[in-house]
Amino acid sequence: MTRYSRITGTGSYLPPHRLTNAELATELASKGVETSDEWIVERTGIRARHFAAPGVTSSDLGLEAARHAIEAAGLQAADIDLIIVATSTPDMVFPSVACILQHKLGIAGCAAFDLQAVCSGFVYALTVADAMIKSGAATKALVVGAEVFSRILDFSDRTTCVLFGDGAGAVVLEASETPGILASDLHADGKHVGILCVPGNVSGGQVLGSALLTMDGQAVFKLAVGVLESAARAALAKADMVEADIDWLIPHQANLRIMHSTARKLKLPLDKLIVTVDQHGNTSAASIPLALDAAVREGKIKKGDILMLEGVGGGFTWGAVLLRY
Ligand code: UT7
Repeated sequence: MTRYSRITGTGSYLPPHRLTNAELATELASKGVETSDEWIVERTGIRARHFAAPGVTSSDLGLEAARHAIEAAGLQAADIDLIIVATSTPDMVFPSVACILQHKLGIAGCAAFDLQAVCSGFVYALTVADAMIKSGAATKALVVGAEVFSRILDFSDRTTCVLFGDGAGAVVLEASETPGILASDLHADGKHVGILCVPGNVSGGQVLGSALLTMDGQAVFKLAVGVLESAARAALAKADMVEADIDWLIPHQANLRIMHSTARKLKLPLDKLIVTVDQHGNTSAASIPLALDAAVREGKIKKGDILMLEGVGGGFTWGAVLLRY
């Protein structure tokens, strides 16, 4: 019998401190940085974001999301036999957030590792977990996207600091006799490494270079609109499906204009687009599982629906996962 993988539970968590654009603009103004609610909403669709309290890490946020996902799947933490955490803001250089999270869940023994593909991290992680389940290497996987991007923001750079937020989302992916994940399509092009990066590295006990995020927003924007369309089409072709089969489009939540453009290119009405960027900002690898969980808990996404998940970000990386929920 063919072995497939299927999402059996979703969960998410946002740190309680919520900052509206107006509140952020007031804070930034006190540091001499000028922005406005009007500019942020018009250019990005973002209205608010959540920031983790000092000392709260990606594994803390991931733990809450993971607990919700495991509960929704009707499992205990001890049932999990693989943990993959997609993150670019790990608690430490090493060990991985996945190992720290495993311990916080009170379990031991199962494979646990981080995967770093920046804002495409969750679709990459889901694809790896799917392959490990299909191969028999795992049966009940916990796949998490968790980020504290507030820690790597340059609050003197208005072109980036208004865009990002903190949060975590998680799914439980289980072996199943019926699919599940229908197709994946992953890509990277390292020549664009400089358009979105945190260039610093640790050497000799010091951080060499900047440990803050830098982005050429327009370059990222132009690449994103093209690759989100091509990855979606490639995943559909692999599953022998067409645009009209998609019930819900869940792109990486970075910019509402990019998301609308992707929906239009795929000829999908905007009411099939799941939008949380307005309330979460860009939470990088956490944005897709956060949006997925919000839509599941709102009752929008129902069992059997066809979902197109799409990530795009630093690397440059991009990809899509087509699945039956
Ligand atoms: O998660 C990874 C994926 N990341 C993305 O998808 C991000 C993709 N890029 C974007 O979302 C957009 O490019 C941004 C939202 C980053 C910028 O929007 P834009 O429409 O491309 O604006 P722009 O960079 O062309 O800047 C327009 C103007 C500039 O002023 P001048 O030169 O026209 O006088 C900026 O200085 O807006 C100014 N500006 C701001 N003004 C007020 C830039 N940031 C701000 C700000 N508040 N926060």
